[in-house]
Amino acid sequence: MLITNARIVNEGREFEGDVLIRNGRIEKIASSITNTNETVVDAKGKLLIPGMIDDQVHFREPGLTHKGDISTETSAALAGGITSVMEMPNTNPTTTTRERLADKYTLATGKARTNFAFYFGAANDNADEIARVVPGEACAIKIFMGASTGNMLVDDPKVLDDIFARAQIPIVTHCEDTPTIKINEEAARQKWGDAVPMSQHPYIRSEEACYKSTELAVGLARRHGTSLHVLHLTTARELEFFTPGPVKGKQITVEACVHHLFYDESSYESLGSLIKCNPAIKTAADRKALVAAVMADRIDVIATDHAPHTAEEKANPSYFKAPSGLPLVQHALPMLFELVRRGELDLHTLVRKTSHAVADRFGVVERGYLREGYWADLTLVDTDAPTTVRKQDLYYKCGWSPLEGQTLPVRIDTTWVNGEIAFQNGQVLPQVLGKRLAFAR
Ligand code: DOR
Repeated sequence: MLITNARIVNEGREFEGDVLIRNGRIEKIASSITNTNETVVDAKGKLLIPGMIDDQVHFREPGLTHKGDISTETSAALAGGITSVMEMPNTNPTTTTRERLADKYTLATGKARTNFAFYFGAANDNADEIARVVPGEACAIKIFMGASTGNMLVDDPKVLDDIFARAQIPIVTHCEDTPTIKINEEAARQKWGDAVPMSQHPYIRSEEACYKSTELAVGLARRHGTSLHVLHLTTARELEFFTPGPVKGKQITVEACVHHLFYDESSYESLGSLIKCNPAIKTAADRKALVAAVMADRIDVIATDHAPHTAEEKANPSYFKAPSGLPLVQHALPMLFELVRRGELDLHTLVRKTSHAVADRFGVVERGYLREGYWADLTLVDTDAPTTVRKQDLYYKCGWSPLEGQTLPVRIDTTWVNGEIAFQNGQVLPQVLGKRLAFAR
């Protein structure tokens, strides 16, 4: 297949060119490629970037498939220009043994429409099993250092120390101090009873809770020399734990998620529980600081934390009962393009943080860049096509998005996975399947 006349943005360069794909891989990138008998996709006027590698998604399979499943949520990811995903262990059963991890790979093979890898989940009683997880088996070890969906809190200090000392692969952490949150919840209950407003979420799941837990994780990683990636940073204050610079060579890295870059606390009034997530979306100043830290390379990668719940679950009026998490994979890239349109992000940073840096951080083999010899995971974006998010276009099993009715500045035109067109003309092509990600580190 030959893609012609694309506006290519890759590795800090922007140029018009052609891309030749053969046997699933990029064979050639040049300003003009002729004399082939390949199928031609004319990309004139459109932007070609490496497919996004999303290092944080919850696809709910096995066990929670009323919220989403591997097939529906990878379809939504394709429609959003995401070509690889790393999926979290808070399924049912939790992915906390190597056997269950192997079962999850088996489950995904033949179902996942994007490329995929799975996290191994930490528990208070599986440090020995964690020590046996070898590179390639999982993208990383996930530790919930704060309680969230799925009861996977690891809060025994000795166990945490043991895990940080013995893990052979990187650790990723959800950092929120649960005792602090419990105190804040109790205070809110005293004040409002069961009618706690959703807008209190950033003050219950507070800056202090995030800071304390991130400080603990970073301290453990420094003490043991562990490779640590802190997930979904939400506050300006926590930025002091991280250093600016290229992701390669950093022992401790950090991620921001699209919703924390896009929304701030003013959005609770109109969206309420739809944007309730853990850690919480915080103040306007926090959002600004996160965006600036992405631009300054202090924040290393951008992900989604896609976490679908049914509309019915989300409609629960009780602050304490409405679950945390929102579906995002279908619109993450368009949301980031909106930040580019507003002048908050630039295009090269968008590309770097959603593909190159993720591949570098996790050691993803031969993906994340448009390079000859690499797998052809590509996203073609029509940057001249403002698109309104409509319920009928959603691929999510949960069938809702907090963005419904909102217009974002671009349209995802075509998504290639391993050289095959997997999404085009608004349609996912069901015969195309992803591959298991390989890691070299
Ligand atoms: O908001 C969230 N939802 N944060 C998490 O940490 C988990 C996720 C989920 O699985 O629902």
